[in-house]
Amino acid sequence: MEQQELFEQYVHEVMEWMSQLAERSDMRGEVEELLTYLSSHEGGWTEEAVKEVEAIVASLYEKTVQRISLVEERATDERSEMEQGLERTAGTHTLPPLPYRYDALEPHISGEIMYLHHTKHHQSYVDGLNKAEKMMETARETNDYELLIHWEREAAFHGSGHYLHTIFWYNMTPKGGGEPKGALLEQIKTNFGSVARFKNHFTEAAKKVEGVGWAILVWSPRAHRLEILQTEKHQLMTQWDTIPLLVLDVWEHAYYLQYKNDRAAYINSFWNVVNWRDVEQRFEQARRLRWQPF
Ligand SMILES: [Fe+2]
Repeated sequence: MEQQELFEQYVHEVMEWMSQLAERSDMRGEVEELLTYLSSHEGGWTEEAVKEVEAIVASLYEKTVQRISLVEERATDERSEMEQGLERTAGTHTLPPLPYRYDALEPHISGEIMYLHHTKHHQSYVDGLNKAEKMMETARETNDYELLIHWEREAAFHGSGHYLHTIFWYNMTPKGGGEPKGALLEQIKTNFGSVARFKNHFTEAAKKVEGVGWAILVWSPRAHRLEILQTEKHQLMTQWDTIPLLVLDVWEHAYYLQYKNDRAAYINSFWNVVNWRDVEQRFEQARRLRWQPF
């Protein structure tokens, strides 16, 4: 076969593949661009031009594989979640079982404290979160947001309570103490100098929480480092143990020069500039982090 014929056959195969891809994937735009270029090509194909096509095909192929693996991953996740009965709808949180007996942490933490803390306090967070989620669902269905601030507050208060206590129970064990190992140990040394320094800082942070709250060791996916934070009251309109995907700054500095006191107009305008591709990407990353739901 002549080289020119080979080139043409290759281009023909590429076009076939692209047509299939355009039908089945969400990459229609990129694919159609290449198809138009290929079909409008006049005269013979040079080696250089074919190489260019090859490069474009390679990059499209890579993107396709990535997307297919994401789709497959999603399908597997969803399947296994359904199989395990872990699919979550609003208002279906449950009290996680303690991974040890109530008195197992004695003498350090008494069985009575553990019993009350788990069965009364944590249970009321679970109930409160379920109620808040149901009420917000009703608000969405009826488009009645009169009490939204109240239910958002409840969701933050009870949600943080539920998620943090769930972490807390599993953060402890009767055979605990000692030192961390492996990657965590290395990261602690990198960020705090030593385990002893980390413990001192964490202890002081816990002692100095004003009123109610928590001391929290966090990992920042942005800064790639560990940090120690305090939360005074966990309910200040956030749910700890969640990952932000889409955020809107409504401080006055974000809109006042242009919109004055018309925050609603600014928010309406925001919807015209939302980068859903970015939010999707954040979601793709975030959704891979999955804890056992309760
Ligand atoms: Fe508590």
